[in-house]
Amino acid sequence: MRGLSVRLAHANPSPGPAKAAAAVARLDLAQFRSYAELRIEPGAHPVALVGPNGAGKTNILEAISFLAPGKGLRRARVTEPERRGSSAAWAVAAQVFKGEDEIRLGTGRGEGDKRILRVDGRPVRGQQEFAEHLSVIWLLPEMDRLFAEGPGARRRFLDRLVYGFDPEHAGRVSAYEYSMRERARLLADGNRDDAWFAALEDSLARHGIAIAIARGQTVARLARAVKANIGAFPAPDLTLTGAIETLVAEMPALAAEDRAREILAANRQSDAESGSTAFGPHRGDLRAHWAAKDTAAEFLSTGEQKALLISLVLAYARELAAERGHPPILLLDEICAHLDPVRRAALFDELDALGAQYWATGADLDAFALLRERAVFFAVQDGVCDPHRG
Ligand SMILES: Nc1ncnc2c1ncn2[C@@H]1O[C@H](COP(=O)(O)OP(=O)(O)OP(=O)(O)O)[C@@H](O)[C@H]1O
Ligand SMILES: [Mg+2]
Repeated sequence: MRGLSVRLAHANPSPGPAKAAAAVARLDLAQFRSYAELRIEPGAHPVALVGPNGAGKTNILEAISFLAPGKGLRRARVTEPERRGSSAAWAVAAQVFKGEDEIRLGTGRGEGDKRILRVDGRPVRGQQEFAEHLSVIWLLPEMDRLFAEGPGARRRFLDRLVYGFDPEHAGRVSAYEYSMRERARLLADGNRDDAWFAALEDSLARHGIAIAIARGQTVARLARAVKANIGAFPAPDLTLTGAIETLVAEMPALAAEDRAREILAANRQSDAESGSTAFGPHRGDLRAHWAAKDTAAEFLSTGEQKALLISLVLAYARELAAERGHPPILLLDEICAHLDPVRRAALFDELDALGAQYWATGADLDAFALLRERAVFFAVQDGVCDPHRG
């Protein structure tokens, strides 16, 4: 089969018994990025993907990220992952272990360039259903600067954490974004139809308040959980900032919705002039401060910022395991870069203790010495199937 990556026989004679309570046990790709076809079958084991730059390692993580709500880890348009020159649509299918259960999740490009989503072969409408079955979280090299750059990426990161505890959040976020786009369109068109505005602002207020509450609950939960295991990682203080976030902290949800409707109605003129929406959870932000160093996250070193982010992800994994009975699946792209050996070891020890399945990539086999007895290794090489002769 073309595009098949193979086990590195020498690197990993026998990882111990797999403990993962949730795992992508088999992954099939068709016409996806650099792969015409690919099947990987790690069972419940953690996975190490090793290969040179451009080999297609991140592409595999991206494929798994499409099994979570959203546009995947590269935030791609639906046509984008299609293998260049392919006449067929891209597709990703996975067999997923969840405790004793097994489900099949599938996605890809469908008619009219719409995303198809299937659970056990049955088409489902919303991405929320994926979130009900599987929680996927990723750490990419570019996220090392998550706290130093714009708030949009932090909100998306936070929302992915919320999906784990509250799968309905995915539906809320898309309904909110839809209403915001519609209102912006009416404003740009100079429309004065009060009933239309009122309907859209009602949707923005209801979903906006629900989003702010769900994010706030997740932040409060992580803020506690992150302190539970300081060990090798920073235990930051976390806060959610923003006008709508302040509103939900100050009054009951229904009163906050009423207030949000008033603010949106009052802002029509200024929003029309600025071409943006001044009020709402799309303006919120997640801030982190490391008390031990009395330093805000954005002023920490690159490695410290990475460690802080890992600390949040581990806290999330612990909380999710406690609540849903299984930790998330973690996609760890180039995870060893910028991470000192103590923290590398601490990260994999904790993931092992949780029984989490992770998919880690690296260009350098030596960096993965730690994973030898734990993960199954795959050599990834330009979408070509060559038995590895290690
Ligand atoms: N739609 C597509 N069709 C065909 N090839 C694609 C498509 N999109 C991306 N690629 C190719 O996939 C390759 C990159 O794959 P990927 O990002 O997974 O590499 P990698 O192994 O993670 O590399 P690195 O170590 O540099 O991060 C590139 O050569 C890129 O041109
Ligand atoms: Mg990569």
